[in-house]
Amino acid sequence: MSNILEIKSLNVHFRGNKGIFVAVDDISFEIKKKEKLAIVGESGSGKSVTAMAIMGLLFSNRKAIISGQVIYSGKNIFELSKKELQTLRKSDLSMIFQDPVMSLNPVFTIGQQLVEAYIMSKKQSKKQANDNAVKQLEKVGILDAKNVMHLYPHQLSGGMCQRVMIAIALASNPQLLIADEATTALDVTIQAQILKLLDDLHHREHNSLMFITHDLIVAKLFTDRIIVMNEGRMVESGRSIDVYDNPLHPYTKLLIQAVPTLGKRKRLHSIPKELDSSFDRKQGCQFYERCNFRQSKCLNERPSLRLIDKEHAVACHFCEEIKDGSSNY
Ligand SMILES: Nc1ncnc2c1ncn2[C@@H]1O[C@H](COP(=O)(O)OP(=O)(O)OP(=O)(O)O)[C@@H](O)[C@H]1O
Ligand SMILES: [Mg+2]
Repeated sequence: MSNILEIKSLNVHFRGNKGIFVAVDDISFEIKKKEKLAIVGESGSGKSVTAMAIMGLLFSNRKAIISGQVIYSGKNIFELSKKELQTLRKSDLSMIFQDPVMSLNPVFTIGQQLVEAYIMSKKQSKKQANDNAVKQLEKVGILDAKNVMHLYPHQLSGGMCQRVMIAIALASNPQLLIADEATTALDVTIQAQILKLLDDLHHREHNSLMFITHDLIVAKLFTDRIIVMNEGRMVESGRSIDVYDNPLHPYTKLLIQAVPTLGKRKRLHSIPKELDSSFDRKQGCQFYERCNFRQSKCLNERPSLRLIDKEHAVACHFCEEIKDGSSNY
């Protein structure tokens, strides 16, 4: 399968009062045509910043320092003009944002925003765009779609706004849809509906999907491949079933242990953060302080992502020993 998007050595740093903060730390991956790729990781691991960088949405942020390449259709998105980037976002690349209330424009009605999306991307007449907008709202589970068209974002619940955002993102039938926690704010039934909607779209349009989620079970069941991020770095990637059933990185193992069983969320194993004064994040493994299996090599040498089995790669010096249980930790 060929690639729809290639991310090469992406770095995103933010300038802050206390110096430079590394949000995304030298990550490279590709999204294949028709693929459903999940990005998972705890809060703050850099998932949204990665997505925003891919969409070219961080250039307006003066605090952000971005390097690397994002190649789409043979072109580096980072080298496109503002206008070219906008065109791309209206047609080929679309994103459902994590915070729907913030991303909808408060001064326009839902209908105006959705109709505009159809007119811009599909060059439809106002009447066609209006009909399609109502249909799309119904498809994302909004029953009284005709009424909702006349409402403003603040008049809707968070979950409703999220569904409106999904409808807007789908208006252009994008080649690549990035869904950032698209279903998190929704109740389970609606969540299942939205996942089905995204799945149907995927089958119908053969588009690619980058699905950002905290929910490893959804990632396992819904996507083809999982990338696990920890503190801005990629720590594991592989076929979803392999990553879930046979996690190799100690961090992925922790995430899977934290998946709720029988409705109860097990607490994430908390590993005491002994602050090690000799620890230099740039040199060593970023997971060092939380890792049960750490050794001196982890302190001094940053593990790179290496292929262990077919498509299954991991950034851990000792994953074989941890896996086999043959080590004396
Ligand atoms: N505009 C910004 N300025 C400064 N720091 C930022 C900015 N945006 C994000 N960050 C920081 O970058 C890190 C990664 O943030 P990001 O939003 O990508 O996390 P995330 O993995 O999406 O988390 P969540 O699951 O909570 O959405 C966080 O520590 C965050 O505070
Ligand atoms: Mg996020």
